[in-house]
Amino acid sequence: MQIAILPTFLLFLPAIVAACEGECIIGITNAFISNYTIPVNILLEQLTNEVVTKVLSNRRYTSPPISLMGPLLSAFHETAYAYLENAIFPSYFHGKCQRRDPENPDGPFVNPPGCPNPDCPVVCGTPGSMVHFYPKLRYIAFNATRHQLVDFASPGNEAYQAVERGVMSEIESGGGRRNTVSRAAGTRMPKQWRHEKAKSQIREIMGQVSSRLEKICGGMHGLPKCSWEKEMKEFILSYP
Ligand SMILES: *[C@@H]1O[C@H](CO)[C@@H](O)[C@H](O)[C@H]1NC(C)=O
Ligand SMILES: *[C@@H]1O[C@H](CO)[C@@H](O)[C@H](O)[C@H]1NC(C)=O
Repeated sequence: MQIAILPTFLLFLPAIVAACEGECIIGITNAFISNYTIPVNILLEQLTNEVVTKVLSNRRYTSPPISLMGPLLSAFHETAYAYLENAIFPSYFHGKCQRRDPENPDGPFVNPPGCPNPDCPVVCGTPGSMVHFYPKLRYIAFNATRHQLVDFASPGNEAYQAVERGVMSEIESGGGRRNTVSRAAGTRMPKQWRHEKAKSQIREIMGQVSSRLEKICGGMHGLPKCSWEKEMKEFILSYP
């Protein structure tokens, strides 16, 4: 009896699970994280260059300067997956696509045309809905990436403090800009003062994370460089 029930149940299963679950959730989340590798690297390079030219000028490095931003990158790697998965799925794309038919408002819930796939004009948890609302999905991915990086680049954060310690120890180990004014005056700028100045420069540079990422992505109007629309839509629809 039980053996007979199982295949019957399986017949209906595809209709029940026509949603982005399991592999689909993991695949789409990872695709965005992987595509963001390039913009995030560009951002870290820009921040490093700012630190090099403004805080550490005329300095030979004991390690590649990009490693100065290592703490930011490791913090991001640790949280990126869980954060983005949560931002896309339970927070936005979830639930069934069925709605009442406007032609038959007292009738049963039905799938609107295009739902669950390939292009579903209601917000629900299927690939077709993600394709239809791709601008929203693209924005969620950007917003999540930006939000985490801004957090890590804020003075109270452990990652920020690790970056600051790294830069300060570079200064200590023999570099750091000499202040031309105090040199001209024949005095050395007090160490404490130089350190405070470096710290405030670091704070200013790290405060540029949001505006820089926005620019790298080509601006908030469609985020053209962080969109990957055609490949992403194809990839999303590769899930049933
Ligand atoms: C973005 O992700 C999609 C899906 O994985 C992939 O096809 C595409 O090549 C990626 N683009 C870049 C620039 O990484
Ligand atoms: C952007 O992300 C933050 C943090 O996850 C969230 O609180 C905020 O609602 C998001 N903004 C939009 C417009 O989705």
